[in-house]
Amino acid sequence: MRVAQPSPESIAEAARLLRDGKLVAFPTETVYGLGADATQGRAVAAIYEAKGRPRFNPLIAHVADIDAAEAIAEVGAAARRLAEAFWPGPLTLVLPQRPGSPIASLVTAGLDTVAVRVPSHPVARDLLRAVGRPVAAPSANRSGHVSATTAAHVAADLGASVSLIIDGGPAHLGIESTIVDVSQKVPLLLRPGAVTAEALAERLGAAPRPAAPAAADRPSAPGQLESHYAPSLPVRLEATSPREGEAFLAFGPFAPAYDGPLLNLSPRGDLVEAAANLFAALRRLDGSGARGLAVMPIPGQGLGVAINDRLRRAAAPRPARDAHGKAERPRTP
Ligand code: TXA
Ligand code: MG
Repeated sequence: MRVAQPSPESIAEAARLLRDGKLVAFPTETVYGLGADATQGRAVAAIYEAKGRPRFNPLIAHVADIDAAEAIAEVGAAARRLAEAFWPGPLTLVLPQRPGSPIASLVTAGLDTVAVRVPSHPVARDLLRAVGRPVAAPSANRSGHVSATTAAHVAADLGASVSLIIDGGPAHLGIESTIVDVSQKVPLLLRPGAVTAEALAERLGAAPRPAAPAAADRPSAPGQLESHYAPSLPVRLEATSPREGEAFLAFGPFAPAYDGPLLNLSPRGDLVEAAANLFAALRRLDGSGARGLAVMPIPGQGLGVAINDRLRRAAAPRPARDAHGKAERPRTP
């Protein structure tokens, strides 16, 4: 790990490292971000490994400007009003993902939407322009610790796992961006932040609806909407072999041979690779026409904790489904 002052050279190096699939920590106006190329699943999986995060939350894709946002997402009328008023700045918009978007499915946790943010910090902007790709970046701290607002926090928390930290001084705002979901008719405030509900209301004509409070069993995401892709097939965990009619999600070199729909998350048993492939594999097998989805045991170490957490959620009883068989998204009470 190296710490560098912002300069054209350090920013070019950071961009090169990101394109190589490495992790780079960089300042934004809210908190320091732990960045990875959002188009590389393996790089995004490394974020979770570095943070020691036991769950896969969808991440924010950071881009340089609204044009770059439009390359990955559909920016509707309400979103455009907010983007024009508050970008660049501490506002994240959850938008419908553009078909064929290059965003790795681990960034969105398999959802059809993507959270997009255009930060205003000059170092973040220069870096995003230099990378020329969306950068997934949660706050640069270990899971469960407070967000990092200085390069020293980042180094203390994540030193060993980041290739480069760009030291832009203390983050000005110190709390994460406001998140508004404008992917549906009624805008939802998913996370309060520096852009206030009043300021949003001024642009939207009405205040965004507050999102449902976090469930009691998810204290790590207070006030945040947890919205996750759920397969439509019933999921059977810890399956050593598939049963008649099932699709099989395998892991490691000892997967049984199978004539039916089969994907191996990582034939060589690498959990980072498995994490990167997880959501895309779930989607593929979910659409395979099988009557169920059987999943091989995944080791519970390292990223295996997050993978198993996600698989247990996928196997848990389902929320109500709408007429199209899609899981209904959480509603405000
Ligand atoms: O200020 C910030 O936003 C910082 C800096 C580094 O930019 N980033 C940050 O990212 O806080 P992160 O990944 O920790 O926050 C992501 C949150 C998730 O917890 C989730 O609640 C929400 O954004 N989110 C992301 N994608 C979503 C989606 N498609 N639908 C709903 N919520 C989403
Ligand atoms: Mg955080």
